[in-house]
Amino acid sequence: MGLSDPIVLPEQCKFLGAVLDVANVQDINSVVHLGQHKPEGKKVDAYIQGRYPNAKQEFWDIKNDNWDMNKEWGVKDKDLVASFRVAHYVKDKDHFLEQLKKCIDNNRITVFDFQLFQGNLEVYNDNNQRTPSINFDFRFIHDTKEEYKESNINGTHVTWKDFCDVIPHPNVIRVHTTRSIFYHYLAWIK
Ligand SMILES: C[S@@+](CC[C@H](N)C(=O)[O-])C[C@H]1O[C@@H](n2cnc3c(N)ncnc32)[C@H](O)[C@@H]1O
Repeated sequence: MGLSDPIVLPEQCKFLGAVLDVANVQDINSVVHLGQHKPEGKKVDAYIQGRYPNAKQEFWDIKNDNWDMNKEWGVKDKDLVASFRVAHYVKDKDHFLEQLKKCIDNNRITVFDFQLFQGNLEVYNDNNQRTPSINFDFRFIHDTKEEYKESNINGTHVTWKDFCDVIPHPNVIRVHTTRSIFYHYLAWIK
């Protein structure tokens, strides 16, 4: 278990619970976890099993050889698709946004989170260099100032404006910050 798990895993369950309350669904039968390779006691799959005992849950992950987020996702007709702490493995932002849009369109509820690491921003600020991964910088999600929404440092930086140009507005948003990470939890309900 990672050091931050005791803080982060309850946050994931809390967010998912709020989304399911808002969606007001009586039953969830089919669930896909993107970027989780097996069931685990403290994770969202255990929460779902407690709330919907008949749910059939699948685990898609690069470790299982059944999902690579940088290829075609092919996820459709599920009641719930949930993906936590995986978006920082994105290699091509346009491909990712296209796949996420399809996922939202083709499934009933989609839940995704985005982590922004303070350390990555410092690399940008100090050296003006590219960080190795794509940064989803949603810090100004609630800000109306155009300069914040437009501020794209280089091609690896996805701002809230970039995101909203492609992806429909989420139905539920929750922001959680720790000393070193900004988490944005987003959900789309059809
Ligand atoms: C930090 S873990 C998150 C696990 C779980 N979702 C959670 O929040 O506890 C990241 C997961 O993403 C998977 N992963 C990494 N790169 C991937 C890729 N390109 N495609 C699919 N899964 C990937 C890893 O194997 C790992 O299971």
